Amino acid sequence: MMARQDISPATGGAPTESKPFVDFNRVWLAYDDELARRGEFAVEDISLQAAAGEFIAIVGPSGCGKSTFMKLATGLRPATRGAVSIAGEKVHGPLKQVGMAFQAPTLLPWRTTLDNVMLPLEIVEPYRSTMRAKRDAYVARARELLKTVGLSGYEDKYPWQLSGGMQQRASICRALIHRPRMLLLDEPFGALDAFTREELWCVLRDLWQAQRFNVILVTHDLREAVFLADTVYVMSARPGRILLRKEIDLARPRPLEVTYTEPFAERVHELREKIGHVRQH
Ligand SMILES: Nc1ncnc2c1ncn2[C@@H]1O[C@H](COP(=O)(O)OP(=O)(O)OP(=O)(O)O)[C@@H](O)[C@H]1O
Ligand SMILES: [Mg+2]
Repeated sequence: MMARQDISPATGGAPTESKPFVDFNRVWLAYDDELARRGEFAVEDISLQAAAGEFIAIVGPSGCGKSTFMKLATGLRPATRGAVSIAGEKVHGPLKQVGMAFQAPTLLPWRTTLDNVMLPLEIVEPYRSTMRAKRDAYVARARELLKTVGLSGYEDKYPWQLSGGMQQRASICRALIHRPRMLLLDEPFGALDAFTREELWCVLRDLWQAQRFNVILVTHDLREAVFLADTVYVMSARPGRILLRKEIDLARPRPLEVTYTEPFAERVHELREKIGHVRQH
């Protein structure tokens, strides 16, 4: 098994909060040496800094390198040029203490909702080695988290007994159960109907407001980006570069009704225009 890099200075260590939590410094990535030789990069010259607890969203056309950005941020792919640091540490391998959720439901069909949510605790330290002694406390934590996303009563159901939206709620609980400092969401709500999607925006908003982990959200939905994020980055078509950084200065906490206001629409339009421009080239 590959050694995983720990980014959680639970005790001791230099304080990292004054530095950016996420730091991309002129990062380029080509998927293999041949592509690098030909100068074919999936992302080019990405520089981006996010403060501790900041919620960022990345939007851009299909194939522009959003998922590639996520792989760089978690250390699943090394940068071809430039450097990525998370929590003040240079990334040199897959990171611990990161939670992830994706568009396709990835719950294990043979496990109940509760057991799916518990999965990271069976893998990530310090939970793994204390599972036997503290199992009851961990189960209580999983039940509590499921309650906050409205899944009380579904703990013992299997994924196929849940709706798509419920499965996605459970996936978000699984991504957060080990209290990661960073949550990566790659189009987590893309497959859901508009009502469920908006409900889950609020679930995510409330979890983030309470725990203030860093979030990197990849989405095609500009309203979603503006509603949830502190800062939205627009990427260009392949090869992906960052074209625009837009701070969303809407007051928090943001009620869903903010999405019907003029200031909200203005911000969405501004991003929309930028993306329209990208797609014409
Ligand atoms: N494993 C891989 N090997 C080689 N090329 C890849 C690999 N993964 C992605 N690419 C290429 O890198 C580019 C960026 O892909 P990426 O998956 O990051 O795009 P994306 O923005 O997430 O797209 P989408 O919105 O469709 O999910 C694409 O041109 C893709 O073909
Ligand atoms: Mg993608």
